[in-house]
Amino acid sequence: MQPMRHILLTGATGYIGRRLLLRLAGDPAVALRVLVRTRAKLPQLPDRVEVVEGSTFQLDALTAAVQGIDLAYYLIHSMGQGADFEEMDRVSAHNFVDACVAAGVRRIVYLGGLGRPESASPHLRSRMETGAILSSRPDRIQTIHFRAGVIIGSGSTSFEIIRHLVQKLPVMVTPRWVSTRTQPIGVNDVLAYLQAARYLTADGCFEVDIGGEAMTFGEMMLATGQAMGLRRWIIRVPVLTPKLSSYWLILFTPVPYRLAATLVEGLRSETVVTNDRSHQLFPGIQTEPFAQSVRTAIAEIEQRQVISRWSDSSGELREDPDAPLEQAVFQDRRSYDLNGTSTASVFRAVTAIGGEHGWFSYNILWRLRGLIDKLAGGYGLSRGRRDPEALRIGDSLDFWTVADLVPDHRLLLQAQMKLPGRAWLEFLLTDRALIQTAYYYPNGVWGRLYWYLVLPFHGLVFHKMGRSIIREGRRIEAAGACSRGGD
Ligand SMILES: NC(=O)c1ccc[n+]([C@@H]2O[C@H](COP(=O)([O-])OP(=O)(O)OC[C@H]3O[C@@H](n4cnc5c(N)ncnc54)[C@H](OP(=O)(O)O)[C@@H]3O)[C@@H](O)[C@H]2O)c1
Repeated sequence: MQPMRHILLTGATGYIGRRLLLRLAGDPAVALRVLVRTRAKLPQLPDRVEVVEGSTFQLDALTAAVQGIDLAYYLIHSMGQGADFEEMDRVSAHNFVDACVAAGVRRIVYLGGLGRPESASPHLRSRMETGAILSSRPDRIQTIHFRAGVIIGSGSTSFEIIRHLVQKLPVMVTPRWVSTRTQPIGVNDVLAYLQAARYLTADGCFEVDIGGEAMTFGEMMLATGQAMGLRRWIIRVPVLTPKLSSYWLILFTPVPYRLAATLVEGLRSETVVTNDRSHQLFPGIQTEPFAQSVRTAIAEIEQRQVISRWSDSSGELREDPDAPLEQAVFQDRRSYDLNGTSTASVFRAVTAIGGEHGWFSYNILWRLRGLIDKLAGGYGLSRGRRDPEALRIGDSLDFWTVADLVPDHRLLLQAQMKLPGRAWLEFLLTDRALIQTAYYYPNGVWGRLYWYLVLPFHGLVFHKMGRSIIREGRRIEAAGACSRGGD
């Protein structure tokens, strides 16, 4: 049988989907269509890739997306999009399977999580329920439900947590859950299974558990340390409650409290493979050893080849993507003369902002704001950036996300920090000036109070930031001139 050719990919701007997108888009034998909520978040794609803009809650877009499709990948979840993520996941999966059945799609391929329903966290239970809904029409459509536990890859949540803990703490005092067994799998192996689902000839709906060698979280940390050339010690104590463990994680790793708590909750019960279907249905795939997945992830980080990160999905920011900035209740606009420095050089300086590079001025104040944000359950500054120089729309950048990026002209950052309102920071370049504007929509009285409280700091921080950016732009230009002179 020929592999299925007409493919729909959902979740193409997320951690797994973005990586699968590059593989499918690079295969000329695949007629690929993607359903995305924000087209601008997609990378440059070959012309033959069709893009449908919309979500699984927009039935017109969904119906258009599934027409003429043989196989549809479902790589979506609603966690982080509000308190009622379970209901959203339920509706989304029902909409999807109904649309696929109506359009005559032959196969749905879904990636969910490993675990047992009786001991699963709410997040995991929702993933299982999604799998059950997508598999609920075996008479009309085949569903392949892959289930994976911890995924090891550059930028994946679990790997970033392990890496940060291992890098920062020579001796780790750990709670009991680090002894729970799981079966981690490298992200490239996950992608191999997802791709191989195109070639499957067996009929029927299947749950396919995938994973490598069984290990505890503690063993993963020690093995990661070894792969990084670091000797580490673990001391287990029975007293660390899940809540304390989650606070511990937000202190030393980039994840916010919500994600840390989900992870800890998930690790309190075993997530191991419970069936042998991966071998029966996909005998050609041998998962790589854990240490190899770690080495690949580290190499990608070192070579600045991180394709996707755990923070790529828009989450709650989706609620208000088009707020008219010019109508923001509070605005703080400042203009800085380029003094002959080219817009290209100044823009390079602008786009280097944040992460390890810092914020050009009063980094101590930014760090303090980051700490307050972390303590309030936000991201703080520890998410950093995917790449020290390159940015793309949708990238997370400390406690911001890139909302718009027009080369040499505009960078718009939308605040993801905990705030009593909604905020943006814009850098606009004209031929002569850099215009830097903070926009703010307050929520009620507290929101207004917050603005007046931070106003004196804006005066300090923003003013120096603009001038420092121009200075950095000048330095970049001079360095470029020197290296050209030396050529
Ligand atoms: N990452 C892991 O470590 C891991 C481990 C085990 C299993 N899994 C499973 O793998 C699947 C994919 O996870 P992921 O980590 O890649 O997720 P992710 O990074 O959070 O990405 C989610 C994707 O879904 C899109 N999306 C969300 N709601 C949507 C909707 N209603 N309509 C259309 N698109 C929507 C998001 O678009 P926006 O960009 O617009 O937000 C984003 O592209 C999930 O089922 C997850 O349980 C992941």
